Amino acid sequence: MVGVTAAPADVATGSVYVARLLTDDAMASLQSLDRTLVVGPEEPPTREEILRRVPGAAAIICTLTERIDAEVLDAAGPQLRVVANTAVGYDNIDVAAARARGVVVTNTPGVLDRATADLTLGLILAATRRIAEGDRFLRNGTPWTWGPRMMVGLDLSAGATLGIIGLGRIGRAVAQRARAFDMQVLATPTRAELDDDERAAIQIVDLPELLRRSDVVSLHCPLTPQTRHLIDDDALRQMKPTALLVNTARGPVVDTDALVAALAGGEIGGAALDVFEDEPHVDPRLLGFEQVVLTPHLGSAADATRSAMCQMSVGNAVAVLAGRPPLTPVS
Ligand code: DGY
Repeated sequence: MVGVTAAPADVATGSVYVARLLTDDAMASLQSLDRTLVVGPEEPPTREEILRRVPGAAAIICTLTERIDAEVLDAAGPQLRVVANTAVGYDNIDVAAARARGVVVTNTPGVLDRATADLTLGLILAATRRIAEGDRFLRNGTPWTWGPRMMVGLDLSAGATLGIIGLGRIGRAVAQRARAFDMQVLATPTRAELDDDERAAIQIVDLPELLRRSDVVSLHCPLTPQTRHLIDDDALRQMKPTALLVNTARGPVVDTDALVAALAGGEIGGAALDVFEDEPHVDPRLLGFEQVVLTPHLGSAADATRSAMCQMSVGNAVAVLAGRPPLTPVS
């Protein structure tokens, strides 16, 4: 493994640029490739570092923190064959620019559904049962005694309704968990083939109805031009004044200014956010709300899941470099 810029090369000898250090098992799999490995740091590389290290790459293995656009693709050179994202979301990659250059783009679908759904339920419970607030309360040394009206939250299993926007793999895993809590589940229309149990348990409704009826609205759609700021002033106004908004998808699906105004004005009851509009920056206005729970993009941060994601992105790069079809190309 070398950490230097590879010289421009043809596809047979092109390097593999690994923008960020992956899990140990994935890094070990890369050693089997008879290629120069150009390995970035554990932390996100700067733009300048990407542009300095990518020339000569036949494969780029990146994460959601690297923007792979026409400039990076051109800097890599004409031998580039594959950009393998270590994430299911691929809004960080200019797929059209890659396609125009004959470069395959891959992602990591399927392996992080359960971990992300687990975190979603964790956030829902942390916010509705005031777990994060209670933790802060004790750490602050606030005097307390148990009381019938003390820190009472929402009873999920007493008929609370969950609205899922984006009933794909992750949304379906969230629905399955919510049903175990006896929640009623609504979802916006989906192209997914639901099984009989799902068809019986999940009511498909349009977005306005979902916003109007849900006690918890949870986002599981990809970030696209159509979903950017899907949750804006207008959407927030349609939600119940007690409703919780949960975002484990992508930050820009929610208009942060609108969310802050809705929280301040009591238009919604609270928010639980794992993703942010300008990551890793967290809008400081969000920190002031007791009814907001925040986590640093931990959706897939579980050991077996991260290992599977890294192995999958490496497997995609290895397959394309060997002339085989990619395992999970983006459509
Ligand atoms: C993804 O894979 O898109 C997730 O956001 C990573 O946690």
